[in-house]
Amino acid sequence: MGIGSVAEGTPPGTDIIATLEAERAHGASLDELLEAAVRGIEAADPRYDWVGIYLLEGDLLSLHSYIGRPTEHTSIPVGVGVCGAAIAERRDINVPDVRAVENYLACSAETRSELVVLIRDGQASRIYGQIDLDSDQAGAFTEADVRALRPVADWLADLFAEAEKQRTAGRAPGED
Ligand code: SME
Repeated sequence: MGIGSVAEGTPPGTDIIATLEAERAHGASLDELLEAAVRGIEAADPRYDWVGIYLLEGDLLSLHSYIGRPTEHTSIPVGVGVCGAAIAERRDINVPDVRAVENYLACSAETRSELVVLIRDGQASRIYGQIDLDSDQAGAFTEADVRALRPVADWLADLFAEAEKQRTAGRAPGED
C-alpha cells in the first residue's frame, strides 16, 4: 500500500508510527528506531528508491541509516546540496527535477527527484536532522508525501527531545 493511500480516515504515516511505537514499547534503542523508520518509509511506496535519515551534528549532516544505492555523501555541511540547504533554510524541500538544481549532490545518476523532510520541533527552532528521499521518477513527490511523512518526522523529533531530556536529567548538577 502506498504511504499516501492508507485507508480513508487514517492519517498517512499512521501505520509507520504504529510500528515504531510497538518497537519502542519492546525496548528498541534510538538507533534501532531510526533504522525501523527508514525501513517503514522505504517499504511504503515504490517511488521511494532511496530513503535515508541524516542527523545534524554541529554544522554537519551525518548519514545515520539508509536503504538504496550506496552514497558517497555520508557527511554534508549545512548549506551544501539539497540536504544542507534544507537545514540552512529551516524548511522541507521538494525538488521535482534534480537536474535543474545547481547546488545538488548526486547520490546516483538515476535520481530525478528528491524530498527532504526536516526532523525538528514545531517552530523549527531545534532541528535534529532530516528524512531524505530520492526517486528515479521526475516529480515523484507531492504534498501528499509531505503530509504522510511529516507525522513520522515529528514522532522522531519527539524521540530526540525525550532522549535529550533523559541525558540532561542523568547528568550531575553543573555538568554540561
Ligand atoms: N542529493 C542530496 C545528497 C544526498 S543523496 O541524495 C543520498 C543533496 O543534494 O544534498
